[in-house]
Amino acid sequence: MNAKSSAGASPAPVLAGEAPTLPTGATPLIRLQGITKTYGQGQAEFQALRGVDLTVDSGEFVAVMGPSGSGKSTVMNILGCLDVPSSGAYQFFGTHVERLSRPQRALLRRHYLGFVFQGFNLLARTSAQENVELPLLYRGESAAARHAAARAALAQVGLEGRERNTPAELSGGQQQRVAIARAIVTRPSVLLADEPTGNLDSTTSHEIMDLIAQLNRELGITVLMVTHEQEMAAYARRVVLFKDGLVESDFSPPPPGEGPGERERLLRTPLASIPSPPAPLMKPLPFGIPGGEGSFEVVGATSREGAA
Ligand SMILES: Nc1ncnc2c1ncn2[C@@H]1O[C@H](COP(=O)(O)OP(=O)(O)O)[C@@H](O)[C@H]1O
Ligand SMILES: [Mg+2]
Repeated sequence: MNAKSSAGASPAPVLAGEAPTLPTGATPLIRLQGITKTYGQGQAEFQALRGVDLTVDSGEFVAVMGPSGSGKSTVMNILGCLDVPSSGAYQFFGTHVERLSRPQRALLRRHYLGFVFQGFNLLARTSAQENVELPLLYRGESAAARHAAARAALAQVGLEGRERNTPAELSGGQQQRVAIARAIVTRPSVLLADEPTGNLDSTTSHEIMDLIAQLNRELGITVLMVTHEQEMAAYARRVVLFKDGLVESDFSPPPPGEGPGERERLLRTPLASIPSPPAPLMKPLPFGIPGGEGSFEVVGATSREGAA
């Protein structure tokens, strides 16, 4: 199948069951090349990113670590189209994001990217259901589609029956679950999480990490997550370490417990008991890229109906 086969097609309706198809070629989901970011001017000028190169493939779960001030949030904001780099190239499934207009970047954000922050960032005095519906409202979805998708997303994060609760009526962990539901209700290809467990106790942090790992594993959502905690980074299969605005190291730690014994155990495990990853869906991007590489489609998010 050709990655450009449905160029110009209208955007996929929320939760529509499209035919699954696999990524074509070797186009990575995310490619950053020589990304710099300078804040301020003159005396106050500060270079937060000094030439970041990073490639992330569809389906990866990446932990971003590094000291405070090393540029982790800056790079997440650029990846999430919340901010633009000062120089360098950002390609999202082959399309140069830095060549997109502001409205086009907003579209890319609304259709492909989901965010989770340390502080949850929910609207107060607004029900869980309405918080989760918000991204669909921005996208102009009908009320019926919004209600159904938000209920499914809340069920997906284990909050069935909490739809009417406001943030004040929910625990920290439950509030973060609402935020995760809001992030995945649009079926994003990528979940960007900036210290998602930073405000949570250890037990709740592990519950949230289990949920994020499940979204990665079962829905095929690519995850980039900033964390200070080694224990939380252990959920990822790759750790990218930032230092002074640069990627200092990039490695894949062996899974916990892996060794000769673990290998034996895995070899003895019947294949049928190992869940296979879901086939990713292609979603057409709702605009063509003038001067770019044509319209493109992105792989990663899968339909949630089956899992909800
Ligand atoms: N809007 C801004 N204006 C000026 N400096 C900023 C701004 N945002 C971040 N910085 C600076 O850029 C550096 C990197 O910040 P950040 O990406 O938030 O680091 P991290 O998330 O790794 O702690 C820090 O020194 C920070 O003070
Ligand atoms: Mg930060």
